[in-house]
Amino acid sequence: MRILAIETSCDETGIAIVDGILKEDGIQFSVLSNTLLSQATLHAEFGGVYPNLAKREHIKNLPVLLKQTLTEAHLQDGKTVDGVAVTHGPGLEPALWSGIEFAKRIAISWDKPLLSINHMEGHLISSIVKHGFLENVRFPVLALLISGGHTEFVLMSKWFSYTLLGKTLDDAVGEAFDKVARMLGLPYPGGPHISRMASEARRNPSTTTGLKLPRPMIGNQTCDMSFSGLKTAVLYALRDKGGIKNLTINEQGEFAREFEDAVTEVFISKTRQALTQSKAKMFVIGGGVAANTHIRHSLEALIVNEFPDIALHLPELFITGDNAIMIAEVALLHLLREDWSLTRPQGEIRAIGNLSMASKK
Ligand code: KG4
Ligand code: ZN
Repeated sequence: MRILAIETSCDETGIAIVDGILKEDGIQFSVLSNTLLSQATLHAEFGGVYPNLAKREHIKNLPVLLKQTLTEAHLQDGKTVDGVAVTHGPGLEPALWSGIEFAKRIAISWDKPLLSINHMEGHLISSIVKHGFLENVRFPVLALLISGGHTEFVLMSKWFSYTLLGKTLDDAVGEAFDKVARMLGLPYPGGPHISRMASEARRNPSTTTGLKLPRPMIGNQTCDMSFSGLKTAVLYALRDKGGIKNLTINEQGEFAREFEDAVTEVFISKTRQALTQSKAKMFVIGGGVAANTHIRHSLEALIVNEFPDIALHLPELFITGDNAIMIAEVALLHLLREDWSLTRPQGEIRAIGNLSMASKK
């Protein structure tokens, strides 16, 4: 089965064509083509994503990417495609609509079914796929989804059955990374920059000003989290030191390291809580922040040392950020497992900015 998928929920325009084959113990995916255009540099001057600019860029990029995607897959048109899948939430509604309208047009012109996909299900499912295979999935699966818009623990008790165990009560962790990066004078998106500075500071620990940031909600027995206070603590600590211009490069590195340590320690404690409470057999992390080396290593150490019977899935790095492959994989998984519920009449597909995948337990 072959799916063409479109992703426009934020500032990445993505189109991919993916084949999926049902095997005895899972699904084998092959990516025929994958195109992705990031608008990050355009949004950099706003320090975050500006929804109407994102929409305008998606509308401009989509026809160009479609041509490129078909050419890369050595296809003339969409005749051999079995369906068109598109992200319909969560995300920025103007951005989502541009993908939905485009998907509707090509589905009509190729006379193919249209499927509406949840972006977070894309992050979750694609993070379990390894070298193109989705196999040996052991339920229940606990997922920690960490991105620019979301930070949540989701339990998948069987295919397509999701329960929310906890989430951030305010900022998403990626948003906190980006805001703290901005305070430190680093460009948007700031997560990878903080991560690099923090690693450097860990390699060179001799310079320390004794900066200590809070670990919000770390002792609390729920799986909920909070990152807004941590961000404010960085702001006050910077102010106490007379602002960013008074910091040496080493001191900036210490801010990045301490912030990343605080976030990671919260994730370790909350993951321990969520794994114990859910009796999960598999643990997976997904979303843009899942590319963070320190978070990956620390969660890996937690599983190896404290939960050796739980299977750990760290996503391949190329799949952590937004892309259309993950949208195609969700569509294929549902169709190959004979769940047709995502196929909707054209008129019924609409953008849902706060679309949730899982209801709270
Ligand atoms: O999943 P994603 O691509 O988009 C959303 O759905 O939001 O996540 C983007 C977020 C941004 O906040 C970005 O700064 C963060 O992921 N990010 C990182 C790293 N790479 C990307 N955060 C920390 N460390 C990284 N290495
Ligand atoms: Zn995302």
